[in-house]
Amino acid sequence: MMQEKLYGGRFEVGQDKYFEKFSESLHFDKRLIEADIQGSQAFARALESVGILNADERARIVAAFEEIQLEAKNPAYFDGASDEDVHSFVIRQLKIKTGALADKIHTGRSRNEQVSLDTRLWLRSTIETTIFATKNLLAEILQLANKYPHAAIPGYTHMRRAQAVLWPHYLLAYFEMFARDMERLQQVHARTNVLPLGSGALAGSAFPFDRPSIARDLGFAATTRNSMDVSADRDFVLDYMHAANLIMLHLSRLAEDWILYSSEEFRWLELSDAVTSGSSLMPQKKNPDSLELIRGKCGRVFGAYSALFVTMKGLPLTYNRDMQEDKEQLFDSADQTISCLNMTAIVARNLTLNPEIPEQACAESWVVATDIAEALSRAGLPFHQAHKLAGRLVLHGIKSGKNPASFTAEELQTFDPQFTADFVPILKDPRHGMKTRVVSGGTAPQTVAAALLEAQARLEQL
Ligand code: ARG
Repeated sequence: MMQEKLYGGRFEVGQDKYFEKFSESLHFDKRLIEADIQGSQAFARALESVGILNADERARIVAAFEEIQLEAKNPAYFDGASDEDVHSFVIRQLKIKTGALADKIHTGRSRNEQVSLDTRLWLRSTIETTIFATKNLLAEILQLANKYPHAAIPGYTHMRRAQAVLWPHYLLAYFEMFARDMERLQQVHARTNVLPLGSGALAGSAFPFDRPSIARDLGFAATTRNSMDVSADRDFVLDYMHAANLIMLHLSRLAEDWILYSSEEFRWLELSDAVTSGSSLMPQKKNPDSLELIRGKCGRVFGAYSALFVTMKGLPLTYNRDMQEDKEQLFDSADQTISCLNMTAIVARNLTLNPEIPEQACAESWVVATDIAEALSRAGLPFHQAHKLAGRLVLHGIKSGKNPASFTAEELQTFDPQFTADFVPILKDPRHGMKTRVVSGGTAPQTVAAALLEAQARLEQL
């Protein structure tokens, strides 16, 4: 038997049982109960200020909500409840506690603004949790960078060895991505932290609420400017999901890198046993399941984003019940994103780099080719010619099976007199060329050391 609705006078027959079940949202929007009660307590105070409740009534309602808040901490609180949504559920609980007085709580208020208010309150604190998890990951990334400050690895383009970079330089690339994610989350926080209450169903409340004072009561930084916009708007939800999508995108690329780098083909990285799984058949296996799941969860988070976009597209102003579909997408996106951030931080904390293997990969390949071309052009040869000459040397090396480091000064001279003895150290050690990349944002050792310090200082400001 479903509970009594917040409406009914206009209906002659009850809802079809199937429709009731089909349309109820309590089983998922119960996550908003804390926000719903917080908003309703502030609304009771607002009702007192416009003379609908006297001080005693307001106190009884606020106290009853306080009790409901405590009781709702028990997950069994919702067992057997068949209310249409969390807003109806909370009002029914208030009725159980305060009787007829509860009938006043919805004066001049609509669920359309209430759902916006509750979602904003919930999201505001969820954004704070996401920011916290992102910041924690940034700290782990810096730790991991500082663990091997001098390690050299090949950087890749097209998944082919391109140029040597320092390990911390590689990790600082991810630091930048997640730092931008932090900025985005802070912007979404500002757009979410706005009070919608007072908007009514769509036309604005008919009671003279002091909206800035309700905003202060609930810790909102501003009030919304248009009541129709409030009923129709889920931009702030999509904004958060966009930020979450980019976090997931960055996590997925990091996961993919580390799955590759820890594979038997690469062997640079060792994932801790603590974040890997075995095979039920193949005894030797140590699989990177934690990273695969992070990469895999992108599917549902990206899907949720696109699902809500499609839901919102073409909805006529203002509120439409379609919009109830926002919450499961939002909740799941937030849950997955936060848990993937936390999981990645744990993987990072337990990660080991075997610096000699990427070092050897640099030495065995021609990651110094660009350094050679640039040294030739620094000596006066126009770059296109320098590029061609360096390319010929690479081809010669490949054909004769020689590593760059094995070339002697004489061999270089014989190959082409423009290769003076100065070229020997460039070919010997990729770090030589690395030192020339002192431009800001480059991989020269002192530039990277400074970037690491700067990143640490930025992290403390975030
Ligand atoms: N459960 C609804 C939602 O999540 C709350 C708003 C209902 N408003 C309405 N007019 N039916 O969107």
